[in-house]
Amino acid sequence: MKSSFHYRDRQLYVENVPLAHIAQQWGTPTYVYSLSALLDNYQAFTHALQNQPHLICYAVKANSNIALLNCLAKQGSGFDIVSLGELHRVLAAGGDVRKIVFSGVGKGELDIRNALDIGIACFNVESAPELDKIQAIAKRLNKPASISIRVNPDVDAKTHPYISTGLKIHKFGVDIDNAIKMYQHAQSLSHIKIHGIDCHIGSQITAIEPFLQALDQVLDLIDQLKKSGIDIAHLNLGGGLGVRYQDEIPPDISTYCAAIVQQLKGRDIKLILEPGRALVANTGILLTHVEYIKQGFEKKFAIVDAAMNDLIRPSLYDAWHHLLPVIEHQDIDEDIYDVVGPVCETGDFIAKQRALKIKDQDLIAIMSAGAYGFSMSSNYNSRPRAAEIAVKGDSARVVRDRETYSDLFKHEHLL
Ligand code: LLP
Repeated sequence: MKSSFHYRDRQLYVENVPLAHIAQQWGTPTYVYSLSALLDNYQAFTHALQNQPHLICYAVKANSNIALLNCLAKQGSGFDIVSLGELHRVLAAGGDVRKIVFSGVGKGELDIRNALDIGIACFNVESAPELDKIQAIAKRLNKPASISIRVNPDVDAKTHPYISTGLKIHKFGVDIDNAIKMYQHAQSLSHIKIHGIDCHIGSQITAIEPFLQALDQVLDLIDQLKKSGIDIAHLNLGGGLGVRYQDEIPPDISTYCAAIVQQLKGRDIKLILEPGRALVANTGILLTHVEYIKQGFEKKFAIVDAAMNDLIRPSLYDAWHHLLPVIEHQDIDEDIYDVVGPVCETGDFIAKQRALKIKDQDLIAIMSAGAYGFSMSSNYNSRPRAAEIAVKGDSARVVRDRETYSDLFKHEHLL
């Protein structure tokens, strides 16, 4: 299958639209998404899981633009949320409340009350006090709450320490060895309905083994629970499937799903997955232009108009994003650049020591920026957030306006 981002006559396109046209019309920095790529990824999951009862709950935090959520909702996707803000986004995007699961270690009274009122499918419970809080609120509202308990299987996801979540040292989930006691307690509560079990061991995981190890342990627990009279209707394996940013070779979506389905053989259980990155990372880029080429003391810098406030992954995780010039030059020599933004911090960089054929005012596509790009962006240095554009075939549409200067302080007040 042809990638949604490709060169034609030395020009980089997203689907049938030249990125240069998008920059011309809407300026930079701008996030650009390919809706066909998003749909292809979603369908790769549903196709691979067609013989397995399942629900895909897209992890909204990866990219929460309501146009993308709407696109997934129309396909029948569910959603994994971690805040009321995400809940409201899903509702605004036409998502089905009965397909929403609510994750997170710190759900407050208001979160639980609102989610129960609206009627979400399931709370992924992360601690004993959270379970008791849900029971108390559900009882007060006289609305039983469906829950799954997030267990921590103590599996090393072998990913960046900031996004690894499945070890005993992490704040997430409950110790798998104590989970039975917690399920027994849950069963004794009047307004708690035990629905499932879940785990999420981390993000950008590029091997299949950690998932299968976690699954193995969760299945063991399900068998033990059955023996003590507790039936589990769904198994939620979380998200975490990695993508290729540089030279990683993660399992593709169908291989990953097939391996899980294989391990579930013979069991009557619904599988829930919460993919974020695997659906959206490679469906989006951040388009930026080179303001200056600067010869430093020891290095050459390409100073671009996208910065750490637009895409924080390089600064925060030392993440690597591929850079592609929007116009491929033949008459320019390659040089080595640190590609940096205008923010006043040395930590503000997009890429280091990259070989590029570029000159000032060129456009560059920062690849694989669809996940945890815009959703982690900020207004640091009082920079308005970037515009977001969605492309399908020949058509490009604004799905979020570039913020204006007055947007920057519209919630502030003079004394
Ligand atoms: N489910 C839960 C409970 C999660 O905490 C996450 C991500 C997901 C699903 C989706 O994981 P994914 O399929 O996207 O790997 N900002 C970091 C990633 C943080 C992931 C947080 N949790 C980054 O830019 O790499």
